[in-house]
Amino acid sequence: MVMAPMTRARCVDTIAGADTAEYYRQRATAGLIVTEGTPISPEAQGYAYVPGIWSSKQVAGWQTVTDAVHDVGGRIFAQLWHVGRLSHQSLQPERQRPVGAGAVPANDCMTFAFTDEGTVGFVNVAEPRPLSTEEVGRVTRDFVRGAANAREASFDGVELHGANGYLFEQFLNPSTNTRTDRYGGSIQNRARFLLETVDRVSEVNGSTRVGIRLSPFSDLFDMPAYAEAADTYLYLASELSRRDLAYVHLIDQLPGGDRIVGDDFLVPFRAEYGGTIILAGGMTRDLAGDLTERGLIDLAAFGQPFIANPDLVERMQNGWPQTTPDRDSYYGGAGAEGYLDYPRFDPATV
Ligand SMILES: Cc1cc2nc3c(=O)[nH]c(=O)nc-3n(C[C@H](O)[C@H](O)[C@H](O)COP(=O)(O)O)c2cc1C
Repeated sequence: MVMAPMTRARCVDTIAGADTAEYYRQRATAGLIVTEGTPISPEAQGYAYVPGIWSSKQVAGWQTVTDAVHDVGGRIFAQLWHVGRLSHQSLQPERQRPVGAGAVPANDCMTFAFTDEGTVGFVNVAEPRPLSTEEVGRVTRDFVRGAANAREASFDGVELHGANGYLFEQFLNPSTNTRTDRYGGSIQNRARFLLETVDRVSEVNGSTRVGIRLSPFSDLFDMPAYAEAADTYLYLASELSRRDLAYVHLIDQLPGGDRIVGDDFLVPFRAEYGGTIILAGGMTRDLAGDLTERGLIDLAAFGQPFIANPDLVERMQNGWPQTTPDRDSYYGGAGAEGYLDYPRFDPATV
């Protein structure tokens, strides 16, 4: 059981502190924790109160988190994140426009940032400007610095956030990638930024400590469907398969009856990708058991159930009831409420 990455917006001044260390320590019986998305540079930020990983102060903050998790025998990867166009000037250096693969804005998308009045709240994301060809290489180097910082902070590895409509996916999808350079056009070109970054980060951290998260067919944050989507992800599967990574972490964005990462996709993906596959999205014990037994995935990731059940692993092992998470406190400023106060199950009450 993997704890899926979840932004909780509880960090002041972009530094993970004592509360964050306690939050992950409480959940360290997960086979692997993947942290909340962690911006690799000021430009990579898209939400207020999120911890970063570009400065030495941030590394020191993360060190307290990894120490807390390791002290109780857990393992933790940092999720390295660049939101691309899904940002707002109030989070950008010198209030610049956010960057993207192209100049295509995300329509009707909000982010949690600073309003003109200086308060924190939901605001529309801003129109992006396209990264130049040279800048794409610079962003890859920002990821490498993030990965080196993660190693310095004693993380067990890193996960590149290639999912949910953020920068890597903005390159993968031809609707948002309108480029005419070597990063746009064909499937190979649209995948190049992601694969180059995987390779550079692997040089620093060792490929077996690098994972990647992907969300095939997701339309989250105004990502239109496109004809070559399946071919794009199967191309990635075969390329990633040659790289001896820690894992590929897939997300199903339509959990429940209408799975969009169902057998139709998992069977060919598994045929192309020989390494470890994690799947997240509406995961249950039964579904995880079925998919692992049939060899379609290796590990199951759980998101929201881990918010409300720090002892989710023990609850599932014993068939104990689970607490329902309170959605209103998913993202919380500096508050510990809905963050650190979910109780462990007391077997004496059975
Ligand atoms: C509050 C919240 C924050 C999330 N933040 C992230 C994130 O930072 N990075 C990411 O890749 N996915 C993020 N997700 C998606 C989860 O990792 C997971 O894929 C999703 O919740 C589906 O799994 P579940 O049905 O078990 O919750 C977030 C989900 C929630 C509910």
